[in-house]
Amino acid sequence: MKFNFKKIKSDFPILNQKINGNPLIYFDNAATTHKPNSVIKKITEYYTKINSNVHRGAHTLSYLATKEMESVRKEVKNFINAKTEKEIIFTSGTTESINLVASCFEKIIKKGEEIIISEMEHHSNIVPWQLISNNKKFKIKYLKINIKGELEIKNLKKLITKKTKIIALSHVSNTLGTINNIEKIISIAKKNKIPVLVDGAQAPGHIKINVQKLDCDFYCFSGHKMLGPTGVGVLYGKQKWLEKLSPYKGGGEMIKNVSLEKVSFAEPPHKFEAGTPNICGIIALKEAIKYINKIKIEEINKYEKKLLVYAYDKLSKIKEIKFVGTSKNKAPIISFTVEKCHHYDIGQMLDNFGIAVRTGHHCTQPIMQSMNINGTIRISFSLYNNKQEINFFYKKIKEIIKMLK
Ligand code: ALA
Repeated sequence: MKFNFKKIKSDFPILNQKINGNPLIYFDNAATTHKPNSVIKKITEYYTKINSNVHRGAHTLSYLATKEMESVRKEVKNFINAKTEKEIIFTSGTTESINLVASCFEKIIKKGEEIIISEMEHHSNIVPWQLISNNKKFKIKYLKINIKGELEIKNLKKLITKKTKIIALSHVSNTLGTINNIEKIISIAKKNKIPVLVDGAQAPGHIKINVQKLDCDFYCFSGHKMLGPTGVGVLYGKQKWLEKLSPYKGGGEMIKNVSLEKVSFAEPPHKFEAGTPNICGIIALKEAIKYINKIKIEEINKYEKKLLVYAYDKLSKIKEIKFVGTSKNKAPIISFTVEKCHHYDIGQMLDNFGIAVRTGHHCTQPIMQSMNINGTIRISFSLYNNKQEINFFYKKIKEIIKMLK
């Protein structure tokens, strides 16, 4: 399908409103994206027509809900090119996906062993590892970032030892926008027989994901950052790992047999899906994937890249702006500070003009420490943004800087 901006924008009803008297300009897509009509319609349809629990009922609606939900596994499998649907676990989002893997690894990591993450990680790929390392007394090593906000991959080999149990890194930095060369990282890890978890929160919906080609062991992402609902996410895990790891939480759905003395577990992926899942969210996630597929991820990527270059060109003209994260390979995310102005004030003032941005540390305090700053203004684009919005933003931020100086 040809990239038809007008049609795309009209598919997102939330965008058709004024905020503080101005048309909404939503540049906070790295935090969450908006949802097209097809996703919203599916949510209503689910609750008005088929709401029922899955895998349990002996009735038509339960059968329909189960069938619809299980069909999403196939859609996700195709979307990220997993080998089988059994490798797709539904979670509440990236954070839960990472916590799931961290808790499963807690059972196999021993005192004195090591894991590697990086300074660039979102707190959700730091804190779960810190929680388990406090319990198990293993060491977390950090891959550093350079001044451009890129991972210093050349240092990875030095961090790896015989004790390294897993490497967990982000695909795309939510703060810097850097698209990491995870292919290279994974190939180094593979040579050393170390599994790799990729935090993909900021990637699907912007770049094509092919987990078989990447050869990662785990890949995590959230529905709400790729036009889907909140509260639903995915953990892709290689089948061999999902068979090997013990369950993360216990409850209904994840068992084969339970007696008062013992329990045997269901096969993956169900082994990791205790309790009633977010059935509606999962079913609506399929619509988000279908929407992205209809427009084509390559077209979205091309369009968003143009916006990124355009916005950089414009903002570079403002001498008070200092970019944070200047890698050449970037997702549509721009972070910057403004000389003598606090990021929070700028965010508030932009909001007066209907422009939504995120300010602060973006749940990446180690990046702030490494860059010696206490926060940035972050703008992040999606397929429903355009150059006119960037022009308006440029005009307003120039006025604001002049006023605040
Ligand atoms: N991780 C989200 C962000 O970067 C919430 O804003």
